[in-house]
Amino acid sequence: MLKKIAIEDLKMGMYITEFCGSWMEHPFWRTRFLLTHAKDLERIQTSSIKAVWIDCDRGLDVDGAVPSVSRDEEDARVASQLEQAAQIGSHLQPASMEEELVRARKILHLSRHAVAEMFSEARMGNAVDMSVAWNVVDQLSHSIARNPIALISLSRLKQADEYTYMHSVAVSAMMMALARELQCSEGMVMEAGVAGLMHDLGKAVIPLEILNKPGKLTDQEFAIMKAHPVKGGEMLRSQGIAEDSITFDVCIHHHEKVDSSGYPDGLTGDRISMLAKMGAVCDVYDAITSNRPYKMGWDPAISIQKMMSWAGGHFDQRIFQAFVKTLGIYPVGSLVRLSSGKLAIVTEQSEGSLLKPIVRTFYSVNRARKISPVVMDLSRPGCDESIIQREDPRDWGLTDVHALCFGDVLND
Ligand SMILES: [Fe+2]
Ligand SMILES: [Fe+2]
Repeated sequence: MLKKIAIEDLKMGMYITEFCGSWMEHPFWRTRFLLTHAKDLERIQTSSIKAVWIDCDRGLDVDGAVPSVSRDEEDARVASQLEQAAQIGSHLQPASMEEELVRARKILHLSRHAVAEMFSEARMGNAVDMSVAWNVVDQLSHSIARNPIALISLSRLKQADEYTYMHSVAVSAMMMALARELQCSEGMVMEAGVAGLMHDLGKAVIPLEILNKPGKLTDQEFAIMKAHPVKGGEMLRSQGIAEDSITFDVCIHHHEKVDSSGYPDGLTGDRISMLAKMGAVCDVYDAITSNRPYKMGWDPAISIQKMMSWAGGHFDQRIFQAFVKTLGIYPVGSLVRLSSGKLAIVTEQSEGSLLKPIVRTFYSVNRARKISPVVMDLSRPGCDESIIQREDPRDWGLTDVHALCFGDVLND
């Protein structure tokens, strides 16, 4: 039986199943656990949380009469909450890039901790709290609904040691934006987000020296690494996640390729689900554009160009095209050369055309010197500038393109 109790009545030995109130204010990323540490009790009591749900069958009961609900009633309540969360996405007001970047940065910060904790629980052999995954996806989905590009653009920026967590968040965000582009229902958008978040769960049991190795993996290490989809599937199965669920499917099959050269099952395109194909595109894009311990990530526009050349054998064409439509041919953060000979960084997609984004110029190639930055919308009528080519930041000695693109947001 589950009971909602005031925080003053919470004591050691109780089993918490949910914190009431905004997820953003929770002192823990786990939401279901037996309260065994006095420090944890203190953290909850000093937080802004006013009430929690406890499970009296798995821990101590509360003194005095408190109404209880059955597990079925509770399941129905959670299901309706999730349904409401899925509905919200379709009603959110669009936000400008500038507005959403500020919010996206906070959401990413919180999500990073949640996913790090999820992976560390999984690494210790503990069950992963799926309600945490849904909460993270709920927050990410709101940002994606307001402005799909802001959060995706920021989620590409990672420190080397946080790659696995932030990669999961980035893939989750891209899966949701892509699902929206493909006209999926709001419920499906959320499912795609959870699947993206959990797709590399199996990496939690890959030895850290292989996972974070600063160099090329040996054949033997690569074989161990390639086991992560199957390992992830085993972990999900042991937690009661159905094998016919989207999360399970994407976890197992995000490394399949439509020409059957992928793993673990070498499936042909017609046997790979749409969601797993979406997972493959988002996974590769984030992997190649992110900085890793052993190499700098590729420029976003160069990455799209490379992926286009692999698309026939690797990706489903229709899904890849929808992905490009979502992110742009020159995604935010790409370095480009303009017809006037200026170098510019793409800061935003325009309404007008995938080929004419909003850019910030910062360098004149002709004069071989920095210039005062000017933001220009290349799709604006009368704009006589156009992109003439993609540029590799490494050729220009640029190691921190992000600062040029998001300087104001990253510094505040
Ligand atoms: Fe993977
Ligand atoms: Fe991945």
